[in-house]
Amino acid sequence: MYLKELLSDITVASIVPTRERYVVQALSGLPLEEARVVVEYGPGNGVFTRHILERGSADCRVIAIESNQTLARKLSERLNDPRLEIVQGCARDLSRILAERSLSMVDQVISGIPFTLIPATVRETICAETARHLSSRGTFLLYQSQIPGGRAFVQRLIRPWFTVRQTKELFFNLPPLYVLEAAVRQDLSPDT
Ligand SMILES: C[S@@+](CC[C@H](N)C(=O)[O-])C[C@H]1O[C@@H](n2cnc3c(N)ncnc32)[C@H](O)[C@@H]1O
Repeated sequence: MYLKELLSDITVASIVPTRERYVVQALSGLPLEEARVVVEYGPGNGVFTRHILERGSADCRVIAIESNQTLARKLSERLNDPRLEIVQGCARDLSRILAERSLSMVDQVISGIPFTLIPATVRETICAETARHLSSRGTFLLYQSQIPGGRAFVQRLIRPWFTVRQTKELFFNLPPLYVLEAAVRQDLSPDT
């Protein structure tokens, strides 16, 4: 499914979904059980979404924002959980997407967006919007394919808004993944 979409949409960025066991490793340690609102960017086929829902509480809300129309439609058909909303659109519109749902703050943000493949203005807006709505105790968790210079690229990208808490390398996923957990810089935090 990814391969077909990748041929016309480079931002799909992968030919296969992340493998289940690496999703578990990427999300380990994130207190999803305590979150009331979780936002996911780039759910694709929903491999992370399913795990977020499995670990989430009975009354949490999960808002999954997917830019690829086909992937968003297929995910809506496949995942039927009253706690989940799949929004077809770009993560840069987070403020509007939250406002339309009378939400302002988010407890966790999990992103599979390939930041190296999208325009600079879009990726910077996504970071600024995320920092604007992520709670001071929340985590911005990003995973990216490992490419030369990719780790430094992502760290440089998020630096104006976030401080890095932890990084992980998932070498045996195909493609190998680099996972970064960050918190909103204290001087920018919206709820301190
Ligand atoms: C590498 S895939 C990850 C898919 C899935 N989460 C997984 O782990 O297999 C990246 C996903 O991000 C989506 N995407 C890319 N740019 C986006 C954006 N600006 N906003 C929302 N989703 C985006 C792509 O369509 C694709 O589904």
